[in-house]
Amino acid sequence: MNILVTGGAGYIGSHTVVELTKAGHVPIILDDFRNSRESVLDGLETILGSRPKTYVGDCTDADFVETVFLAEQIDGVIHFAALKAVGESIEKPLLYYRNNIGSLVTVLDATLRHGVKAFVFSSSATVYGEPDSLPIKETDPRKPATSPYGNTKQIGEDILRDTTLASAGSLRSIALRYFNPIGAHESGTIGELPLGIPNNLVPYLTQTAAGLRERLTIFGDDYETADGTCIRDYIHVVDLARAHIAALDHLFSSETDQPAYDVYNVGTGHGTSVAELVETFERETGVKVPHAIGPRRHGDISSCYANADKIRRTLGWSAEIPLSQALTDSWRWQQNITA
Ligand code: NAD
Ligand code: UD1
Repeated sequence: MNILVTGGAGYIGSHTVVELTKAGHVPIILDDFRNSRESVLDGLETILGSRPKTYVGDCTDADFVETVFLAEQIDGVIHFAALKAVGESIEKPLLYYRNNIGSLVTVLDATLRHGVKAFVFSSSATVYGEPDSLPIKETDPRKPATSPYGNTKQIGEDILRDTTLASAGSLRSIALRYFNPIGAHESGTIGELPLGIPNNLVPYLTQTAAGLRERLTIFGDDYETADGTCIRDYIHVVDLARAHIAALDHLFSSETDQPAYDVYNVGTGHGTSVAELVETFERETGVKVPHAIGPRRHGDISSCYANADKIRRTLGWSAEIPLSQALTDSWRWQQNITA
């Protein structure tokens, strides 16, 4: 199948391009490199032996998107293209609504008009907010979003659901709610490229281990968890990439009793505390990470991890790569980009 991968030069998109190719699909990247570098295509060429076909342009530009759909026989779409910095979205809400909602609407419109049957959307566990119970199930309520970024994921899910249901069977779609993606391809040739000072834990940790940052601050040790630090569900980006292939396979399958639109958690089902993650990194890499306890970060929730039964049962997918490998893969990638 020819799969259009918007945001395919990004962190999760690039790993998905690899897994799509390994599964026998033909990925077609659409990206304007606003949060990635063209050099990711060199990394992909090293891994795959050839350069994936790439269209450089903006997903919110309907004319540009139309030229891609006219030029290619597209069988399915994976829509990653979005901005993702929570803090920036609070400062610049219109930038986030314009880009994240605009790109979804534009790509979805072309998908429908060109009769493409399968669409996978990047949603986030952030739609659950502070959960009432753990692990989090898909049937648990979404909570009011605490940032414009989070709101674009909730609105995005609703747009996809409504559009899919209105298409009367011509489109089938899945929203994947990612928990915390970490890690990198084992070759060390592609990975996450945070621009500026990282907000997320693992890039900050690996930059500290590499000596680029003085010390990692653990945001709070007075949460109601065993060691007082926050708990998250860290999932290897390659496992996450494979969940997209499982989603597409399901959408392409002929089972008609399945809902036209559905949502799935993509997590390991295991919670790891910040302190445990730092300890695991130090043990697995042998590298000490200077760290100190600081105050809580505004907006953080105490614990968040997935019930991943639905995706295992229905799509036959479950996470396979352990946290230890995710951290050593992140470290290998960090060393490659620092060198
Ligand atoms: P990323 O920034 O690495 O990748 C996104 C890619 O989309 C980038 O290459 C960027 O240049 C491109 N892009 C953005 N807007 C575009 C536009 N209008 N036109 C063309 N290209 C555009 O981010 P990522 O971590 O790979 O995230 C991918 C998706 O997954 C996003 O939708 C994100 O919100 C979602 N998500 C990510 C996480 C995470 O922790 N990384 C968690 C939950 C959900
Ligand atoms: C954050 C976003 C979330 C987004 C996700 C992926 C917020 C509030 N949430 O999730 O919406 O989907 O990133 O981009 O921004 N931590 C430290 N020190 C650090 C960095 C993080 O202790 O320097 C802790 C945090 O308190 C948290 C954990 O590490 O407990 C994970 O943080 P992070 O990687 O930023 O992810 P989330 O906050 O879960």
